[in-house]
Amino acid sequence: MVSVNPATAQRDVEQRERLQALYHLAVELSALRDLQPVLDTALRHCLDLTDSQFGFIGLNTPDGSAMDVAAIQGFHPAPKFYAHFHLIPLRPSIFARVVLENRPIRSADAMTDPTRVGQPRGHPPTRAFLGVPLLVRDKPIGMIGVANRPTPYDDEHEQLLVTYAAQVAIAICNAQLYEELKAAKEALEHKVAERTQELQEAKEALAQKAAQLQRLLTETVGVQERERQRIAQDMHDGINQLLIGTLLELKSARERLSTGDLTLAEVSLQQVTGVLHRMDEEIRQVLYDLRPPTLDALGLAPSLRRYAERFRQYTGIPCEVRVEGEPCRLPPDAEIGLYRIMQEALQNVSVHARARQAQVAVGFSSEAVMLAITDDGEGFDLMAIQREGQGHFGLLGMQERAGSLGGRLVIQTTPGQGARVEVSVPLYPVAAPFLASVRLEPQTGD
Ligand SMILES: Nc1ncnc2c1ncn2[C@@H]1O[C@H](COP(=O)(O)OP(=O)(O)O)[C@@H](O)[C@H]1O
Ligand SMILES: [Mg+2]
Repeated sequence: MVSVNPATAQRDVEQRERLQALYHLAVELSALRDLQPVLDTALRHCLDLTDSQFGFIGLNTPDGSAMDVAAIQGFHPAPKFYAHFHLIPLRPSIFARVVLENRPIRSADAMTDPTRVGQPRGHPPTRAFLGVPLLVRDKPIGMIGVANRPTPYDDEHEQLLVTYAAQVAIAICNAQLYEELKAAKEALEHKVAERTQELQEAKEALAQKAAQLQRLLTETVGVQERERQRIAQDMHDGINQLLIGTLLELKSARERLSTGDLTLAEVSLQQVTGVLHRMDEEIRQVLYDLRPPTLDALGLAPSLRRYAERFRQYTGIPCEVRVEGEPCRLPPDAEIGLYRIMQEALQNVSVHARARQAQVAVGFSSEAVMLAITDDGEGFDLMAIQREGQGHFGLLGMQERAGSLGGRLVIQTTPGQGARVEVSVPLYPVAAPFLASVRLEPQTGD
């Protein structure tokens, strides 16, 4: 017969129960991922195990100045109370010493403990108290505190809670890592969503631009065709008519010569000379419209002046030209591009603006050429025109021209307050030798 000491048997039973409890805690914790359920579950087990009335888990704040009460049980503070007192400063007090001294602290009556610092109003009196640190690589990251079991905590409770705390600390670390990972994943997903949205917008903007360019191209072809028609018409109405007139006059001069009427023949020949002069003018005009010869011969500033003068003659709108800086020759593309922009802008002034006057300003610097066409007319609603997006190719064409020269075109206008088209084209270093070769005086006329 083996006799069993009842006290030993009792301890064995208790020991087995504790091992089982520890096992259950481990199983429960391993099923949890988020921090709060981990803390709540762990604390519930700690209270059950030590037969405590209430308790808390505090986690050190990142700056290490306090412990944040991350879980609390057995006591249900009002949200206001919690908002005020959820931080326990890490300075010697019966609780904080657990972390500061990195060891379990036990008290039979915390109310009379010499290191007690008092409790906030509304907190139930803490009598029996046991606190153990939560350790990660031997460093406390916070603590578990349990209180008010019916009889004081003993060595076994302490040992048990220390064993529990080791499990809990690992679970907390895992949960914190999981939350960091989740936050990083969410941030990444957010970024991906943002980028996708940006890409989508860029794609739509690109498609819109492509459609606009296509329309511009179609319009340009149309404009070219109309321009050819106009030139053909001009030649037919002007030069052709004059040519027919010349042939008739020459015929009558010949007849007069054959009849010996020299005086009248002379009159006919004079008429022919006059008509030929007019033809010369007409042809020059057509050629000038096709490409202003001053542009190739003298450059931008004189050509702008000459065009402004002709603009004044034809429209009656005075147009002052101001030149700033030292005018210089630009690459041919830039000169013709800027000239056409001015033509289009002044065309708009004459057709749409009802302006009393216009001004063209051109500024030369070592880095860029700036051209601005300003009028004091009615102005317009630029956004509305851009929204409408149909039919108006002048503004779009100017913008494209500026873009193709590597420049930028800005239109400023408010209804009732005139309009200003400003374009700035950079002078690239590659153009420098060309620019240096020909220089003009600022006030050179044409
Ligand atoms: N200087 C200006 N003053 C007033 N309105 C202007 C001026 N320039 C442009 N606009 C307005 O912008 C519109 C678009 O101009 P544009 O693209 O050149 O097309 P279009 O001249 O063929 O109408 C014009 O129809 C006109 O309403
Ligand atoms: Mg126009």
